[in-house]
Amino acid sequence: MLEQALGQLEKQLILSRTALLNTASLFREHMDKGLSGHESSLRMLPSHLGRPSGDENGIYLGLDLGGSHARVSLIKLDGNGRLEELCRQKQALVDSESGHDYRAESVTAEELFDFLAGLVQEVLTNPDTNPKLTTEVFLSRPIPLGFAFSFPFRQRKIDEGILLKWDKEVRTSGVVGKDVGQLLSAALQRRELHKLVKPAAIMNDTTATFLSAAYQDPGVDMASIIGTGHNTCYLERTAEKYPVSMIVNTESGNFSVAPRTEYDLRLDRESDNPGEQRFEKMLSGKYLGEIWRQISLDFSARGLLNPSEFPATWDRPYAVSGKDLAWVAAGNLSTGLQRIAQLLIKRSAQLVAAGLIGNIWHQDPRLAVRHTVAIDGSVYLEMPDYAPELRMALQEGLETKVNMVTVKAVKGGTLSGAVIAVAMVTSR
Ligand code: BGC
Repeated sequence: MLEQALGQLEKQLILSRTALLNTASLFREHMDKGLSGHESSLRMLPSHLGRPSGDENGIYLGLDLGGSHARVSLIKLDGNGRLEELCRQKQALVDSESGHDYRAESVTAEELFDFLAGLVQEVLTNPDTNPKLTTEVFLSRPIPLGFAFSFPFRQRKIDEGILLKWDKEVRTSGVVGKDVGQLLSAALQRRELHKLVKPAAIMNDTTATFLSAAYQDPGVDMASIIGTGHNTCYLERTAEKYPVSMIVNTESGNFSVAPRTEYDLRLDRESDNPGEQRFEKMLSGKYLGEIWRQISLDFSARGLLNPSEFPATWDRPYAVSGKDLAWVAAGNLSTGLQRIAQLLIKRSAQLVAAGLIGNIWHQDPRLAVRHTVAIDGSVYLEMPDYAPELRMALQEGLETKVNMVTVKAVKGGTLSGAVIAVAMVTSR
């Protein structure tokens, strides 16, 4: 009975080669449409940044705001792809002691940005920061700051970022529709830091990952995050509307036409933002645990699995995190539950591969040149078997041409990418 049900689940979840290629073609179509300004689930947002030379240098501040943490770092770029981190501060958006949650709707934009400005101040006043470098930095103030912002935003210039919508369940009030560059500048001013620090570049976290990988490897032409959320950017070389090559943020998490199961439909319906971020909801760390929980509960209700195996706390929606899922996939519960986890991991990797193939076809339909995609994010780096599954899915789609594609794991490149962007724009 269980074997049969798992077999059926596999048929529902796993993409045949035809479905994989079809998803890749649709992805490419949505890229083309989004780029030419037509209705598309892919926003194709220009970053106003190209590829770094690797020679960028200087001392800059990086700020990174993601779905769960904020980090600030002072980084020295030495050129030749080398850099040194001088000081770093990291804070969870939910305070572990007070439980205060900066992502909550009851929190205002001012409160969130005051918290970020506070982190910047902590780095600047940190006694661990090498004093000599601090003098050097202080003499050349204001220190330009690069802001890696892990949400979809539009920008007409490099130091602007108008938030289109929150995702990953962040809901802080008064930020959507506003320029996060201005909100940050105002918060720095409230702390009287404006003469010391100047926000100079804002970029999506995928763009920052691209820059940090390309600083060391000029072959990088795509970057993807497969973590709490999902997204991919790439170097657009051919679009007529850009005078030079430009990194474009596809916002691939919002891709809307991958084949969905009844479980995906339900998760989307019951989520905070129904209809949005459909691709992300099928494959990223924020949601994989919840899909697994829903399927497992369904199997238990059908008498196929024993619910007493679940930790009691897993009764609540979103109680199963990406980390829990990795634990299940590694074989810590029964094989039935493990198989469900493995199928979801495999499907996630297939979907990401379909998006990457569509992206490569857009850039280079015959796969005539080599492509390197830099990938960061907890799902890619920490989920058992994820990286080999992704490679296999790329191979299934591209067959022998898969040799033209290199996947490069990068860990925590956002802050260095943010400062590389600053070095690029301040030397323009
Ligand atoms: C956001 C993207 C971001 C991605 C990875 C998604 O939820 O929409 O802008 O790049 O997560 O953090």
